[in-house]
Amino acid sequence: MTLELRVSASAETACREAAELLAAAAERGGHVALSGGSTPVPAYELAARLAPDWSRVEVWWADERCVPPDDPQSNYGLVRRSLLDRLTRDAAAVHRVRGELPPTEAADAYEAKLVDVVFDFVLLGIGPDGHTASLFPNDPAVDELRRRAVAVQRADVDRVTLTIPVLIAAETIVFLVTGEEKAPAAARAFAAEPDPATPASLVRSASGTTIALLDRAAAGHLPN
Ligand code: 6PG
Repeated sequence: MTLELRVSASAETACREAAELLAAAAERGGHVALSGGSTPVPAYELAARLAPDWSRVEVWWADERCVPPDDPQSNYGLVRRSLLDRLTRDAAAVHRVRGELPPTEAADAYEAKLVDVVFDFVLLGIGPDGHTASLFPNDPAVDELRRRAVAVQRADVDRVTLTIPVLIAAETIVFLVTGEEKAPAAARAFAAEPDPATPASLVRSASGTTIALLDRAAAGHLPN
């Protein structure tokens, strides 16, 4: 489970690298899982310009908030606005999590679609607390080894997340992490022992490639 760390001088450069990797994944085709958050938005917008044909890609989400698709918090809406609506050839399939359903129903519906799906490419972020997707520190979802998707109860908004077994089965996992506020979490995720208190530290491709794209600010606590 090797990890390739790539530190860029700026967040812009890190996002460009993520866009190039995403564009290459789109040209190869297959199952691609994307994350929400603010960091990847420029990467999605650039990837749509670099590779506007997603007709060989089935798009999935690493996690989703349990809100309707037109809610401002929706990760589906974020990816639709920043990527899918900017393509010249639409994705072969768009498998959104039905966030409008009750969380366990949404998770069950997503789980049913994920049977036999092995991801070719997954783009993940990391929160300041070390969460990735919606796998939060020491949450029971982090320990889920049987299901591919589970509901996660949160004070702000409930979510549905992919689980660690389906994430680590992916051929290529790319983390995109920028900004000083992420430096402590990035050090725990990429330069410390795997720990359920930092779920991102548990996510590495089991037989493929894991790349961490950071800017200098997010890499600030990594050993030299
Ligand atoms: C979400 C994301 C989440 C995100 C991190 C980092 O639903 O919010 O999937 O896992 O990747 O929270 O978010 P930022 O990129 O906004 O820092």
